[in-house]
Amino acid sequence: MSTHIDILDEIDALRRSRNAVILAHFYQDPDIQDLADHIGDSLQLAQAARDTDADVILFCGVHFMAETAKILNPSRIVVLPDMAAGCSLADAAPGDEVRAWKAANPGHVLVSYVNCSAEVKAASDIICTSSNAEAVIASIPKDQGILFCPDRNLGAWLVKRTGREMKLWQGTCIVHETFSEKRLVQLKVRHPLAKVICHPECEPSLLAHADHIGSTSSLLKYATTTDDADTFIVGTEPGIIHQMEKAAPGRTFLPLPGMDESCACNECPYMRLNTLEKIRDCLRDLQPRLEMEAPLRLAALKPLERMMEISERASRS
Ligand code: 13P
Ligand code: SF4
Repeated sequence: MSTHIDILDEIDALRRSRNAVILAHFYQDPDIQDLADHIGDSLQLAQAARDTDADVILFCGVHFMAETAKILNPSRIVVLPDMAAGCSLADAAPGDEVRAWKAANPGHVLVSYVNCSAEVKAASDIICTSSNAEAVIASIPKDQGILFCPDRNLGAWLVKRTGREMKLWQGTCIVHETFSEKRLVQLKVRHPLAKVICHPECEPSLLAHADHIGSTSSLLKYATTTDDADTFIVGTEPGIIHQMEKAAPGRTFLPLPGMDESCACNECPYMRLNTLEKIRDCLRDLQPRLEMEAPLRLAALKPLERMMEISERASRS
């Protein structure tokens, strides 16, 4: 049986021989984050995938992220360590139902969170991630109706932030909806000086307690750079705490537990399917591989390119 060190050596040798780039989301296990060439939020990883000249993109994340990489950079081989790494938000929005919703709401712009299938992206006018969603909504003319899919919590937060009315699809993230307000209040009572940071996929009752709300990269930046506190209650998947502790070793980061403290239900079960062994096998076999027919890819590319343009314009201004 290979040891941990053997597997890391094997991954390194394969990464070089395959000319592969390893991208990892902040919710991956710490040892996977540590071996990645790039770690980031959904937007940063999509940009890294689009811009790479490596022959192989190994995506340590979930299916919709690897699919997005393939849409943006189709000439690369894109592999995902475990094809079963899905997402409850993507599952909540079947393509045919989203197309029917759009058809029933003529004159509306369909904005879809990147946590959706290629089929839903293809039916959408613009894609967003949690780090550029406000800029995407702000780019839509004021008199235009908006449909937002699939995350109702991110959608409700955007309605509050932007003052825009939107019809919301009723999807949720199984991880963020497991956080309970009661547990959050208990932690606040025990740590009165701690700041609460939450991902916008959390329920509105949780977000009402937050001192800072944002994408994973925004939470990481705030928790490691603000001078306002040195203890933080982290309302998102606890994988991100690894980067927080690396960037600010003197600070305390308290993961928000799920309703039932005895389970690990605050961890994303899909993200955590990826393992070092699967990464090695995936680089060795170049399987499982993302493949897509050109018509679907081109239809899904259009709204993703709109997102990239809006996002890159907003970050320059
Ligand atoms: P970020 O884009 O903020 O990294 O979010 C991705 C995600 O799946 C959160 O659950
Ligand atoms: Fe999907 Fe939630 Fe997992 Fe993110 S944390 S990948 S939204 S199931």
